[in-house]
Amino acid sequence: MVITHDGKNRTSNAKLLQWVDEIAALAQPERIYWCNGSEAENQRLCEEMVASGTFIKLNQQRRPNSYLARSHPSDVARVEDRTFICSESKADAGPTNNWAPPAEMRATLRESFKGAMCGRTMYVIPFSMGPIGNPIAQIGIEITDSPYVVVNMRIMTRMGTKVLDALGSHGFFVPCIHSVGAPLQPGQKDVPWPCESDISRKAIVHFPETREIWSYGSGYGGNALLGKKCLALRIASAIARDEGWLAEHMLILGLEAPNGEKTYVAAAFPSACGKTNLAMIIPPKGLGSWKALTVGDDIAWIKPGSDGTLRAINPEAGFFGVAPGTSYDSNPMAMESIKANTIFTNVVLTDDGDVWWEGIGVEPPEHGIDWQGNDWTPGSGHIGAHANSRFTAPASQCPTIDPSWEDPAGVPISAFIFGGRLSQTFPLVYQAYDWNHGVFMAATMGSEATAAAIGVTGIRRDPFAMLPFCGYNMADYWRHWIKIGGDPDFKMPKIFRTNWFRKDENGKFIWPGYGQNMRVLEWIIERVHNRAGALKSPFGLMPRYEDMNFQGMDFSKEKFEAITSINRSEILSEIEDIEGFFTKFGQQLPPELAIQLDEFRKRAEKALEM
Ligand code: OXD
Ligand code: MN
Repeated sequence: MVITHDGKNRTSNAKLLQWVDEIAALAQPERIYWCNGSEAENQRLCEEMVASGTFIKLNQQRRPNSYLARSHPSDVARVEDRTFICSESKADAGPTNNWAPPAEMRATLRESFKGAMCGRTMYVIPFSMGPIGNPIAQIGIEITDSPYVVVNMRIMTRMGTKVLDALGSHGFFVPCIHSVGAPLQPGQKDVPWPCESDISRKAIVHFPETREIWSYGSGYGGNALLGKKCLALRIASAIARDEGWLAEHMLILGLEAPNGEKTYVAAAFPSACGKTNLAMIIPPKGLGSWKALTVGDDIAWIKPGSDGTLRAINPEAGFFGVAPGTSYDSNPMAMESIKANTIFTNVVLTDDGDVWWEGIGVEPPEHGIDWQGNDWTPGSGHIGAHANSRFTAPASQCPTIDPSWEDPAGVPISAFIFGGRLSQTFPLVYQAYDWNHGVFMAATMGSEATAAAIGVTGIRRDPFAMLPFCGYNMADYWRHWIKIGGDPDFKMPKIFRTNWFRKDENGKFIWPGYGQNMRVLEWIIERVHNRAGALKSPFGLMPRYEDMNFQGMDFSKEKFEAITSINRSEILSEIEDIEGFFTKFGQQLPPELAIQLDEFRKRAEKALEM
């Protein structure tokens, strides 16, 4: 079958045209559609999805231009155990990634994609990660058979004809191929959320050497919106290694002091550590007139600028945030961002055509429809919104978006912050003694996970919060960080670790978190500008009570001690656990990190002798 399309009128890029034809010949769609990114196109696709049952149009007064989708119950999250880094050599994927020989995986993918789009439209989505034409930006082309993916990509990236214009006839693009894996036989009726039902056939595959992404079987989130985790982190991390920059799972935040001084920080946290809340923090009233402005909530691309500072851009254009727990208390700026033009996935539909989720901060409706499409009441005995339900909203709708968030030059980063969710052992905040110590702090960070993931000390290590997102060997990634920090031409940011989650003997959080975290950020900024004091500890440089600003807050010295005290047996078991973690990387472990572990042990032994 020959499928005609108007690709030749859209681009003169021969490589792109040839690739589109090749994938069409393999996947056998009914038609090919080149997305232009216009509002009219978006409206048409949304209406088509309302007609097909994929979308429900929300109440236009309450949530203008917004829609609800419900995924198949088997397709609700990223599938890490079906995510592969297929480098030529297994060693290049490292011990923390799934790997398969590229030739074998290509053969499997060709088999899966053969006829996978039968009966469906194949959409060609030109998109740019980063403002179009920006020297830091990367162009990707996603081929997908999911209109849900098209309208989400339109929010999450810069998408459409203008990207093809920027690509030109010889420009480089990352080919991203996606299918939900549910071909339609002639006359077969479609379902609202088609996807591959056999989990063992789903595969999210990256070829870092050839910079390609193939995703089969899932329509959800990072599995399907290939610009985000697949391109902007896994493939970009490999590009960054080769080109001498950093692609990181970090929020970017601008902090303006009462005197107008502006400092930007980038911060990495594993899932479920309040990253989005920190990205949109509202400084507490008692602290003076600090302003916090968001540049990005999830991903940062960081390159050395001509002045030697590290400059960061947010490669995304939208937020793909977790809904449950988002409220006017926890994150008012996220709530403001999702008032209109938003796609909700797997939340509760209220009888008046609006949305609701657990932790939204308002009483549940007496009746609604849950994420699986069933009648639901607060007494139903189960949650109404899926724990990983999401909103997709344009970043430009965030009232506190930073004026420089699309600046082609990026923003200068003065501090890197790494954090985890740890109920004991780890102090509220500490600063690295030097760059390599900071790399060690980030490489060994982690969070207490569910019972299933608990290790010796109960910590699931998630180095740099990149465990599921690093496109090559994690040990080589650490080496890359060490190398960047050693370049005398760069003005390196200072490195910090935080832990908002320490608990008292009754299992209660000691630190109030949320907006009050601004006090920790203030100490960090004062350290960056060499204005605040600190005390040496085995972990790093820590504030004393008097080094932090508790003005307008009732937080006693005793409480401060409870979140900064260091316990002998806990610190020794942490050291032992890190040792075990490092052995996974064998000879690949950078010697600098083995030295750091030694120094940590020495500092601990010395301090604890006293
Ligand atoms: C995300 C994640 O969805 O990190 O951003 O899982
Ligand atoms: Mn993330």
